[in-house]
Amino acid sequence: MATMRAIVIDAAGPPSVMQLKQVPIPEPKEGQARLKVAYVGMNPVDAFARAGTLGFLNIAYPFTPGLEHSGVVDAVGPGVPKDLIGRRVISRSSFGGYADYSIAPAEKLLMLDDRIDLKTGAVYRGASFTAWHALHRAARLQAGETVLIHSAAGAVGVMLVQIAKDAGATVIALAGSQAKLDYATSFGADAAFDYTKDTWIADVKAATHGRGVDVIIDCNGGPNFPKNFEVIAPLGRIFSIGVTGGGQPPPIPFGVLSSKSFSVGGMTLTQVESPPGSDVDKTIIDAVASGRWRVPLGETVPLEAVAALHARLEARALMGRGILAVDTTLT
Ligand SMILES: NC(=O)c1ccc[n+]([C@@H]2O[C@H](COP(=O)([O-])OP(=O)(O)OC[C@H]3O[C@@H](n4cnc5c(N)ncnc54)[C@H](OP(=O)(O)O)[C@@H]3O)[C@@H](O)[C@H]2O)c1
Repeated sequence: MATMRAIVIDAAGPPSVMQLKQVPIPEPKEGQARLKVAYVGMNPVDAFARAGTLGFLNIAYPFTPGLEHSGVVDAVGPGVPKDLIGRRVISRSSFGGYADYSIAPAEKLLMLDDRIDLKTGAVYRGASFTAWHALHRAARLQAGETVLIHSAAGAVGVMLVQIAKDAGATVIALAGSQAKLDYATSFGADAAFDYTKDTWIADVKAATHGRGVDVIIDCNGGPNFPKNFEVIAPLGRIFSIGVTGGGQPPPIPFGVLSSKSFSVGGMTLTQVESPPGSDVDKTIIDAVASGRWRVPLGETVPLEAVAALHARLEARALMGRGILAVDTTLT
């Protein structure tokens, strides 16, 4: 039986539970395609799944992480057109990318634009689509407004910075170290503050002449979320799009909203995502393919070094998107 390399997890736990093993190459079933994997964008959701903290997902073991990855279709199951074979694609609907081959429902694969390379293809889609929809669809950002972005040196954060700037906003970045602030600034942030320091609220107020910001995008949630209420301008909009910083925010007393005249919302991309071929899809792909928005390709390691990359993600040491290079010969 032909075998392949795969990262296999037998039970949830720390990065060391990820073991590189030889396993059978999977065969695509009805409606499925098999990818020769090129690159994996190492998403926090992979780390949450590995650690067993994704309460809403039933992980079946043995488990191979790797949600967002790129590759070339090398086989298809019954009912799938054979002309899919050889196409460069993005897979974002099924785990399994930490391996030489992965399986996905063929109808969920996204065709990779000819102008975009496979490495960028493993990274750009989730981060840029999340950022665009958070700013434009959820927060309804207007030109001339001021936006505050948490974790602005992360993959979604960097795309938020660039897409907000492109929309004519002033961007204030928050991140957890000077290196991250410099990184976010290199993507166009107008001001950047370290929110591990107590001074950040005063810094944001000073930067907005005491008025506060019009829009806040918070990927972290957790107990620090209510600090946003101290820097939101009247009629401002705060959007929660992630809980990397420690679970859901505490309940908000209703009176705070009316007494300070702001609103709070949330967004999950899969519920609001513009479909392939839509004007939004074309706008985002053109901006990425032309280089107008730079995709934050971060530290890139081979499959066997994935545990160290997970550890660095959890230590908040990464900037942009960490990447696994599975087969760099694919083009
Ligand atoms: N709503 C949606 O549809 C949607 C879609 C995609 C992603 N997301 C969410 O958006 C968030 C950011 O995603 P991403 O892909 O940009 O992630 P990322 O590139 O890995 O960046 C995550 C950032 O989170 C910060 N962070 C705060 N607490 C952390 C912790 N305990 N461990 C690790 N990092 C921590 C770090 O920045 P600092 O140290 O500077 O704070 C880090 O740079 C995630 O929560 C993700 O689940 C939501």
